[in-house]
Amino acid sequence: MQDWKTLQEKVEHLTRELASAKRTIATLEGYPKEEKSARKLIVVKNLHKYYKNVKAVDGVSFEVYEGEIFGMVGPNGAGKTTTIECIEGLRRPDRGTISVLGLTPWKDGHALRQEIGMQLQEGNLFYRITVKETMKLYSSFYSQPASWQDLIKKLGLEDKQNVYYEKLSGGLKQRLTVALALMGKPRIVFFDETTTGFDPQARRNMWNLIREIRAEGTTVFLTTHSMEEAQELCDRVCIIERGKIVALDKPVTLIQNLGAESKVAFNVGQAVEPETFQHLSGVNKVEKVDGQIIIYGNGKDIMAALIGMEGISLPDLEIKQPTLEDVYLTLTGRDYRD
Ligand SMILES: Nc1ncnc2c1ncn2[C@@H]1O[C@H](COP(=O)(O)OP(=O)(O)O)[C@@H](O)[C@H]1O
Ligand SMILES: [Mg+2]
Repeated sequence: MQDWKTLQEKVEHLTRELASAKRTIATLEGYPKEEKSARKLIVVKNLHKYYKNVKAVDGVSFEVYEGEIFGMVGPNGAGKTTTIECIEGLRRPDRGTISVLGLTPWKDGHALRQEIGMQLQEGNLFYRITVKETMKLYSSFYSQPASWQDLIKKLGLEDKQNVYYEKLSGGLKQRLTVALALMGKPRIVFFDETTTGFDPQARRNMWNLIREIRAEGTTVFLTTHSMEEAQELCDRVCIIERGKIVALDKPVTLIQNLGAESKVAFNVGQAVEPETFQHLSGVNKVEKVDGQIIIYGNGKDIMAALIGMEGISLPDLEIKQPTLEDVYLTLTGRDYRD
C-alpha cells in the first residue's frame, strides 16, 4: 500500500505535468501575445489587513499577469510588506479575497509553496552551515527542485560553496537568498524590498538578475520604496500609500496620463523674450533665467513646436522628462522621499 506522502507527491507531480502540458499546448497554438499577457496569476480584491487599530492595507485590488514584472511602490509603512505577505499566505486577510494560481494563499499554503518562490529576509538563514549545505537543504523541501548546482552558477556563488553563511558579505547573502527563492522552479517569485541598502552597482546587478528571471518565464512580484527602481524595472506599477492604491499602470502611461510636466531648457540671446514661446502648443509656463529659457509642459509637443519655429536655434538644449516621482507629486501634492 502506498503511504500518504507518496500519494501526495504523485498528485503534485501530476498537477505540475498537467500545467506544463497546458503551457506547451498554449505555446504551440501560438495564441496572441496580448491574450497571453492577460492571463491573471494573482487576483487581489478589496484586501484589508489591520493590526489593532492600524489600517495597514485598506481595500486594495489589483491583478498580476503572467510573465510581467509587477511592482508595488510606496513610502515606508505604506502596506507593501503586509500585502505581499497576505499574497504569499503568511498572513490571513481581515477582509477581501486573494487568488494566486487559482489557490487561496492562507488556506492552500502547502500547494502554493510548491509553485512560488519567496526571498527570505537576511538573518532567517542558518549561520553555521555552508552555501552548498544551505542549497542542498532547501532543495530537499521540493518534490521537483531546480538543480542547485545550476543555481549556484547562475548566481555566481561557485567560489563560495564551502563558505559559511555568516562569513558571506551582504551582497553574497542576498544572492544566496535569491538562489533559494528559485529552488522550487517557481512560477511566481516574490521580492520584498530586495535592493534596499544596495549601492548603485549592486542594485543594477539585481535588476539584471530580475530581468533574467522574468526572461526565463517566471512572473515577478516585487516591492520597493524607490520610484526610480519601479520606473526602470517594472512593466506595471502600483503606487500605494497609507494602505490604499493611488495609481496603477505602466510607468510610461502613468507619466503620460497624469500630465506631469517635462522641462525643456536652452540658452538664447538677450533679445528673445519668454512670451515668444508662450503660445506654442503643449506649453504650460515659460521662464527666462540668466539668458536661459525654461519651458514647462508636454515635452513632445514643445519640441515639435520649437523645431518648427523659424530663426530659433537651441544651444545647450536640456530636456528633463517627468518621472514616476513627478507622478507621485502630481497625485499627492507631496514630494516623494525614499
Ligand atoms: N506586525 C505588525 N504589528 C503592528 N503593526 C504593524 C505590523 N507590521 C506592520 N505594521 C504597521 O502596518 C503599516 C504597514 O506596514 P508594512 O506593511 O510593513 O509597510 P511597508 O512594507 O510598505 O513599509 C505600518 O503602519 C506598520 O507600522
Ligand atoms: Mg516593507
